[in-house]
Amino acid sequence: MSDCNTRIIAPSILAADWSRIRDEVTRTENAGADWLHLDVMDGHFVENVSFGPQFVAAVRPHAAIPLDAHLMMTHPDRYLDRFIDAGADRITVHVEADHDVGETLARIRAAGLGCGLALNPATPFEAVLPWLDRIDLLLVMTVVPGFGGQAFMEEETMPKVAAARAYREDHDLAWHIEVDGGIDQRTAVIAAAHGANVMVAGTALYGAPDMAQAILKMRGGSPGE
Ligand code: DX5
Ligand code: ZN
Repeated sequence: MSDCNTRIIAPSILAADWSRIRDEVTRTENAGADWLHLDVMDGHFVENVSFGPQFVAAVRPHAAIPLDAHLMMTHPDRYLDRFIDAGADRITVHVEADHDVGETLARIRAAGLGCGLALNPATPFEAVLPWLDRIDLLLVMTVVPGFGGQAFMEEETMPKVAAARAYREDHDLAWHIEVDGGIDQRTAVIAAAHGANVMVAGTALYGAPDMAQAILKMRGGSPGE
């Protein structure tokens, strides 16, 4: 289990070529990705619709790396068992969604998966305080969720990442801090400086001519390494 100071690169499959998903998963792993980030969108919690548990189950046999499912859903609790059965290794749900947050997090953990809590750019850090003693990951959204390719919202989100790191250290906790949206080699440096260690990136990695080099640079390695 990697610790919360290890840099983790989690490409978002939202930006992959879905017509060749098996090859894309293999390419992502071969390029050195640590996790595969799965952006599930229900068309209600966010404006867009992406994929569901069946897609996760289709990806599962082709991925040796952990599947990091991000449920951008209004009622994630209603679908939890299906994502667990589909083979997700970690499931993150939104604090803004319509569910019993504590109960959903407990169910994810009871199934043996890592549990994560996400908050949107407009949501204050204080909104997640009640659950910070029972998560494995905090996802600070760095765009308004729904679509890839948006601009990194530095002013609105980096103070929250810093507040999360401070809270974690003050309370002797050990969860990952993940950022998602507009993450590229430049913004990953900014997010890491504030305390994030898990970088979710779609456009910057699947749009790169050389994904392995792009991952290496996002990991903090030099291009020539
Ligand atoms: C929410 C999605 C996107 C995606 C990453 O809209 O979660 O943030 O993962 O998108 P990019 O990396 O293309 O900004
Ligand atoms: Zn995501």
